[in-house]
Amino acid sequence: MTRTALIIDCDPGVDDAIALFLAFASPDDLELIAITTVAGNVGAPLTARNARIIRQIAGREDVPVYVGAQVPLVRAPIIASHFHGDSGLGDLAVFAPVAPDAAGHAVTAIIKAVMTRPPGAVSIAVTGPMTNLALALRLEPAIAHRLGTVVVMGGARTEGGNITASAEYNIYADPHAAQVVFASGCKVVTLGLDATHQVRATPKRVAAVRAIDTPAARATYDLLKFSEGVQRRFAGALAPPMHDPCTIAWLLAPDLFTTRPVDLRVEVAADLTMGHTAVEFRLADPAAASVHWVTQVNAGAVFDLMLERLAR
Ligand code: BDR
Ligand code: CA
Repeated sequence: MTRTALIIDCDPGVDDAIALFLAFASPDDLELIAITTVAGNVGAPLTARNARIIRQIAGREDVPVYVGAQVPLVRAPIIASHFHGDSGLGDLAVFAPVAPDAAGHAVTAIIKAVMTRPPGAVSIAVTGPMTNLALALRLEPAIAHRLGTVVVMGGARTEGGNITASAEYNIYADPHAAQVVFASGCKVVTLGLDATHQVRATPKRVAAVRAIDTPAARATYDLLKFSEGVQRRFAGALAPPMHDPCTIAWLLAPDLFTTRPVDLRVEVAADLTMGHTAVEFRLADPAAASVHWVTQVNAGAVFDLMLERLAR
């Protein structure tokens, strides 16, 4: 497998943090160009700090963390600390990371990476609101056709939403940004709730994480235990879904996922259904679709991949 040059644009976030651990533990597959952070699950200063905490636990201070957008494009910020804790990292013991943020803005870093490398060479995984990528597309529209794959966690089709009846959180938090990205012509692979709800940290899988004695696995275990509590409170004890790690798993092992070409539009006008993703499978020319929607995941194999990487 060739090594994918990757930017991870995130809002850690308990499951973003697990996604970062998975990526940090995969240097043979992923050349991590940068982590870029955005306001989302918690405010922008905390998501950047959290990315640096996870980077330090993983021992990957070689990867720069750039701070990005402080607020969504149009809407007021919608914080999700009820799902992620006040710190954004659940019960994990947070600390002041040693290495600082990188100089410069996340949006500029994205544009520079994409424009200075060959077309198709840089992919991006987006695990938070898409504000940074939308701003980058507005500042430099040429990145749309120079990006490799944009792998996003966001949206819902057959599943209802998880923040409102209609909308999934990442899209709801910045629907205007999501619409810019989906309409840009970028090659997008979308992991909505239909996909990520298939990949759950069952008690057996959480126990398997506990049995691994690495700093990343120990931190992941703490994050998963926190998420189990959240699920008990909000979802009647269903095992926590591994939303954001699915983006990295797709990059590492796309064969574990089934996708369909779609037309995807985002509701940005109606209050009641704000952030809803209208996902159309019936296309006149499926081969021309720039957006693909994940319908099926081999969840057991995705979790085994996570376990194998956390043990490294
Ligand atoms: C998404 O929303 C966030 O709270 C999670 O980190 C994930 O990216 C799931 O809807
Ligand atoms: Ca996230």
